[in-house]
Amino acid sequence: MSRAEKDPPITKKRSEDKSLDLALRPGTFNEYIGQENIKRNLKILIEAAKKRGEPVEHMLFHGPAGLGKTTLAHLVAKEINAQIKITSGPAIEKVGDLASILTNISPGDILFIDEVHRLNKLVEESLYPAMENRSLDIIIGKGPTARTLQLELPQFTMVAATTRIALLSSPFRSRFSGGSFRLDFYNQGDIEKIIRRSAGILGVEIKDEAINTIASRSRFTPRIANRLLKRARDYAEVHGEGIVTEELAKKALALLEIDEKGLETLDIKILDTIIRKFSGGPVGIGTIAASLREEEDTIEEVSEPYLMQLGFLDRTTRGRIATPRAYEHLGVIPPQQKLV
Ligand code: ADE
Repeated sequence: MSRAEKDPPITKKRSEDKSLDLALRPGTFNEYIGQENIKRNLKILIEAAKKRGEPVEHMLFHGPAGLGKTTLAHLVAKEINAQIKITSGPAIEKVGDLASILTNISPGDILFIDEVHRLNKLVEESLYPAMENRSLDIIIGKGPTARTLQLELPQFTMVAATTRIALLSSPFRSRFSGGSFRLDFYNQGDIEKIIRRSAGILGVEIKDEAINTIASRSRFTPRIANRLLKRARDYAEVHGEGIVTEELAKKALALLEIDEKGLETLDIKILDTIIRKFSGGPVGIGTIAASLREEEDTIEEVSEPYLMQLGFLDRTTRGRIATPRAYEHLGVIPPQQKLV
């Protein structure tokens, strides 16, 4: 049986507490806290398409992990009463996989492709006519007897997400005619609201000071805030009466090796390497990764966005540099001050 005849590579996310994660996910735009400008734009895009009786145009969400790109895709689907088919860049290996997904979709449905920067070039390019005029060319056979089959696809809206917008080619980006939306880190107040809402859904009793503590160490990222809330709840159940107090939250976070700014071991190691091994930089990302025996992608996608948001790290054309704030956080005296 060929790959295309098998089930299409639609992703089913597995996680330790998937049902809880789903329960915490906002079900409507009104429940979705933050990213106000994106919500405003999406509502107009959707309403205008509805008024014209047309499908919603393809859209791209980009920004660091955990900020709600997948959630927004679900909200768009709900708002237009459509089914959402979820897959990811690495899951679509061949054009045949894409054909199998797109021909199985019902008219008006949403195709959500996560990690879209990891699509291979052939698949990416076969998406262009699919997105523009619902046509997909597939080559059948090899060599002189090869034939091209042109498939007409049902109407669909593609919603894609990436943590690495810079890796998308500009022809691909330009096909997202509905727009490219950049999700930003949340602010302290919004993260506090999200934690309060999640605690309500989970039935966790939590003090205001504990909400403030967890929020300030959540890297301004809802997914992390919810995870830390759950770990603080566990800790409070084991070491307390089940009520999450500031003291118990701090102890739970200390056990997870998360510092007051939300930095974890890898973040500290990165800063420490730049400061101590490379005199504060500039130093190339490849050199930092090799020195820490860590994946370059992990550093670029997980640590760097937050370190830059905190103003601890700068990217220059010659490499990464640690800022005076990073020195201060690590308790190291910056070189200029040493001279005085
Ligand atoms: N849970 C995770 N992200 C959320 C958000 N943006 N608003 C409300 N609850 C959330």
